[in-house]
Amino acid sequence: MNILIINGSPKHGGFTGGALDFAATCLQGKGVTINHVRLADMTIHDCRGCFNCLKTGKCVIPDDVETIIKEMIKADGFVIGSPVRNALITACFKKFIERITYILGFTLALEDKYTLGIASVGYIGGKSISRKFCCLQDVFHTHLSDFVFCSVGIPSEKNMAKVESRLAIATDKLIADISRRPQRSFYQRTSYLIDRVVIRKFMIERHPDVYANVIESWKSKGYIRPR
Ligand SMILES: Cc1cc2nc3c(=O)[nH]c(=O)nc-3n(C[C@H](O)[C@H](O)[C@H](O)COP(=O)(O)O)c2cc1C
Repeated sequence: MNILIINGSPKHGGFTGGALDFAATCLQGKGVTINHVRLADMTIHDCRGCFNCLKTGKCVIPDDVETIIKEMIKADGFVIGSPVRNALITACFKKFIERITYILGFTLALEDKYTLGIASVGYIGGKSISRKFCCLQDVFHTHLSDFVFCSVGIPSEKNMAKVESRLAIATDKLIADISRRPQRSFYQRTSYLIDRVVIRKFMIERHPDVYANVIESWKSKGYIRPR
């Protein structure tokens, strides 16, 4: 089993780094292979919005995102952490999310993978945004394994003992989910189906040239019938 840890916090030695390190230790203790990406240490430029990737599946910008995408495709699941900043995720995490939206999101390349999201806030705000992005929900459609959201104070008390038991349970669940591959609930399957119908009818099929790579991916998954 191969799990990729993605750290969306620019702060060294902060709560997010500590929580992700603890999760990594729990996973490694159960024989999981871990890869670790710290977004703030990578070269990640802003998405230019050219939409070439919709057609080709590749980004025109040469930086570290291609390497991270390869790691994400190889992984069975993810542990992703970002602190709340101004009631949002961090800037470096958002920049990364923009770069993978059309390459890994619209192609549904991550739909069979499982995610544990970890987010922290000083006092208040950002919970639903963190859940959406740290758990790669919405356009990415990964299976939500668990979401751990902690209030840590400002400056953060970094009392890891408070969350260690919660993280130990969450990492065990991630391993169990990846091994047993539980189905989505009826509600989740229905909303995923509606999403696909809307995207196919109102975006993809209206511009087949622009969405060529997305269409190929959907065909390979049986979501679009080959003509
Ligand atoms: C620029 C900045 C903005 C922040 N915005 C908020 C906020 O909107 N609400 C809040 O309760 N805490 C906020 N915080 C506190 C962080 O959420 C908290 O320090 C963080 O969760 C600790 O994790 P870390 O050590 O990994 O950075 C902010 C912190 C920074 C540095």
